[in-house]
Amino acid sequence: MRHPRIRPLLFLIPVLAAFSPAQGATLAQVKASGVLRLATEGNYPPFNYYKNKTLTGFEVDLGNAIARQLGVKPVWTTVVFESLLLGLDRDRYDLVIASHGITPDRLKAVDFSTPHYCSGGVLVARPGGPRTIADLKGKVVTMGVNTTYLKYVQQLPGIGGVKTFPTTNDQLNAVLNKRADAMVLDRFNAIDASKVLPGKLQIGNIIFPERIGMAVRKNNPDLLNSVNKALATLMADGTYTKLSEQYFGQDVRCPRS
Ligand code: ARG
Repeated sequence: MRHPRIRPLLFLIPVLAAFSPAQGATLAQVKASGVLRLATEGNYPPFNYYKNKTLTGFEVDLGNAIARQLGVKPVWTTVVFESLLLGLDRDRYDLVIASHGITPDRLKAVDFSTPHYCSGGVLVARPGGPRTIADLKGKVVTMGVNTTYLKYVQQLPGIGGVKTFPTTNDQLNAVLNKRADAMVLDRFNAIDASKVLPGKLQIGNIIFPERIGMAVRKNNPDLLNSVNKALATLMADGTYTKLSEQYFGQDVRCPRS
């Protein structure tokens, strides 16, 4: 597993010092620096993950394409999921693309782009395990720290227990080792995981539909608008469709977005 500590981008310190702490890098500053600082988790296939030490995935390719649209070079940081938005608040990067569901709670802390995909959390269990919310009565469910799934499952009545782990892999292991009865996972992660572990996992219903967006710091309208414009361009010019087909075999954009 990767070390969860944020790797400081030391060479950017002189650039960072010029930014207003309340706002982060403006679009003009990003363009002047020639660099878009992106952050993701790196442990969340097929959205963002390491393949032979190279960071890749749908969100990584999309982030790179967005940087290209802005005319700057992408520089990536990988951080454990639960700390990603905190690092954004501390101005460690400009844009977070890590499958964050757009929620009213998160919107208090960050701004979100228009959704870059729509999906939902599914229940993943050993064959014969829980498939539906009703099946979760008395069962132990595992999810990632700071995820929308955790918040959702915690308020369901009759759950036998909730266990959190930092990565999807840890959660999957808990299910496989019977330390949990089920986990909530994005539908596309689940499809990916079931290909890696054939016959070992049962994918249940979507219990929590989500619109997923990229996060930028609040009060940074120029950067947010240019990210939205870049995404719209990529959605219109075929780049998005190509990437989406490559990773999911279908177009995962939100209806009418
Ligand atoms: N979509 C869920 C959320 O918004 C889970 C995201 C997990 N993403 C990740 N890179 N581990 O909380």
